[in-house]
Amino acid sequence: MQYKRILLKLSGEALMGERQYGIDPKRLAEYAEEIKKVVDLGIEVAIVIGGGNIFRGVAGASNGMDRVQGDHMGMLATVINGLALQSALEDAGIYTRLMTALEIKEVAEPYIKRKAIRHLEKGRVVIFGAGTGNPYFTTDSAAVLRAIEVNADVILKGTRVDGIYNEDPEKNTKAIKFDHISFDEVLKKGLKVMDTTAFTLSQENELPIIVFDMNTKGNLLKVVSGENIGTKVNL
Ligand code: GTP
Repeated sequence: MQYKRILLKLSGEALMGERQYGIDPKRLAEYAEEIKKVVDLGIEVAIVIGGGNIFRGVAGASNGMDRVQGDHMGMLATVINGLALQSALEDAGIYTRLMTALEIKEVAEPYIKRKAIRHLEKGRVVIFGAGTGNPYFTTDSAAVLRAIEVNADVILKGTRVDGIYNEDPEKNTKAIKFDHISFDEVLKKGLKVMDTTAFTLSQENELPIIVFDMNTKGNLLKVVSGENIGTKVNL
């Protein structure tokens, strides 16, 4: 296997499946099966999940809501998704721990770096909820931060698109996909991989990012095995 410890970033929207809002149990079960395939191989898996299927702080702010208030709601949305994913993983027979950046200790363990690493070493999938615990930061930033803290080898950004293109492939069918691209080139070309804060944090810490299509069965396993099916961003 190419990687020993991975941080998988899932978007909240992905959990909607075919729905317009909320969580599709079928999609959740499919993700759990995909994650199980890599856990069974002894790969250590940490997960950060977004909350956009329930609430987005930015969207709240654009409708006149205080941004900090909106971001707090978004953080709680990621905890809801984390609980849902934890249940789905447990149904698939995987040991998990949910750790949150905001203390809600009746619901989940507070995030403690050393404890998170022990859980990973013991083969538990660790889900990090509530983002970084701070407003104005995205769950992509949380993913990079946690990946660096727990010494993950790579961030796997599971999306519905199979990599990074020179243009939006959903708008232009002639868009060209990159197999590899450097951090500098992404910035120079103004490509959207993650928000700038998250992206530069990854760059500064030499943490590679792989963008891949998480909705095709077997893809997560392929990426972890080192198959180049998405786009890899590194130095
Ligand atoms: P080890 O020390 O490696 O055995 O880890 P462990 O997580 O199994 O031990 P611990 O006794 O800390 O936790 C037992 C169970 O309680 C696990 O399911 C944890 O997720 C859960 N747990 C631990 N701390 C908290 C907490 O602060 N809040 C909540 N809600 N659950 C917790």
